[in-house]
Amino acid sequence: MAKYKIAWLPGDGIGLDVMDAARIVLDRLGLDADYLPGDIGWEFWCKEGNPLPDRTIELLPRTDCCLFGAITSKPKEEAQNELIPELQNSGLVYSSPIVRLRQEFDLRTNVRPCKAYPGNPLNYREDIDIVVFRENTEDLYSGVEFFPVPEMVMNVLSGHHQKMQRFAQVPLDEIAISLRIITRKAARNIITDAFEYAKKHGYKNVTIVEKPNVIRETSGLMIRVAREVAKNYPAIPLWEANIDAMCMWLIKNPQDYGVLVTSNMFGDIISDLCAQLVGGLGFASSGNIGDHYAVFEPTHGSAPKYAGQYKVNPIAMLLTVKLMLSYLGESELATALENSVASVIKEGRVRTYDMGGTSSTLEVAQAVAERLEL
Ligand code: NAI
Ligand code: MG
Repeated sequence: MAKYKIAWLPGDGIGLDVMDAARIVLDRLGLDADYLPGDIGWEFWCKEGNPLPDRTIELLPRTDCCLFGAITSKPKEEAQNELIPELQNSGLVYSSPIVRLRQEFDLRTNVRPCKAYPGNPLNYREDIDIVVFRENTEDLYSGVEFFPVPEMVMNVLSGHHQKMQRFAQVPLDEIAISLRIITRKAARNIITDAFEYAKKHGYKNVTIVEKPNVIRETSGLMIRVAREVAKNYPAIPLWEANIDAMCMWLIKNPQDYGVLVTSNMFGDIISDLCAQLVGGLGFASSGNIGDHYAVFEPTHGSAPKYAGQYKVNPIAMLLTVKLMLSYLGESELATALENSVASVIKEGRVRTYDMGGTSSTLEVAQAVAERLEL
């Protein structure tokens, strides 16, 4: 029996292309694993009315972790129209399989490394090495939203909060409310994960990115918890930054920062900013990590216009594989893979179109595989 079982979920579009690239490298690394394919994506929405079939949900707990490519999702109306005729008008509503995975397996921590590999023509600077920790389950993404606002909700809110009274007379279908929810437990978990990571990997600072001067309660809680947690890590300074100013400083002095930690919405935004500093979607890897399970995925989508053409950059996926190897405790393989990716980038001979080259997805993977020093 193989040492690891890995759920293998290519998904849609270029998800398949980059998963083929991942496989070339994993095979060369000789990871002792069985790869168990699972269904996810648009095809299964259209055919079965569910982009994440129950059989996939059941497969995952039987594996050590999951590698996932990308999925396609489309607006409500298109989603309805593309259902097979038997499923039309059956009241099915499309919902994101990735959000569902995160909730179903309580994948509370989103990790997004953004490192500039020297020689990448897309780098903003060559000395950037930032890792974003984004809380993955709460905040404005909790899904507690109202439109139209039920009268009872409006009555309770305006009865309990003076600031709500100015909205009390607004017609209920002329106002929408989304709740920002943050629990102490989630705050403590994400901030602890960030500090642990900084400690383990030698990052020099942790910056909590929030907006406590305006969003006093939820951002305030994040800051208070960050100060508490920081006491357990006296060697690592805690910096505090407002999300808006942080966007400016990341453009001005990105090299000053190490680990960033923040809530779901701010993390979504700032991780895209950081990814672009080091080459964009072709380089942006991520892990969704919980106490019992983890799903690794490049942050790009299915890029339909390139689907099946083996044109896109597999480096985001290869760095995602590196994250997965670290999670599995295979740190030597993880380091070998990262070194090999760095060396291919530095040499600059084999490049996909986004880096100004003409090589294919698989040629880049092949080059990385050939350079592995095992
Ligand atoms: P996208 O990330 O799929 O692609 C946007 C553009 O970025 C592409 O057209 C391409 O020019 C570039 N790009 C993306 N990945 C690249 C790579 N590896 N190498 C080089 N260039 C790359 O985002 P888009 O076009 O907004 O969405 C397409 C579909 O993907 C939609 O259905 C969307 O819902 C879905 N999506 C899925 C995500 C996921 O699976 N996690 C995340 C984002 C979007
Ligand atoms: Mg995003």
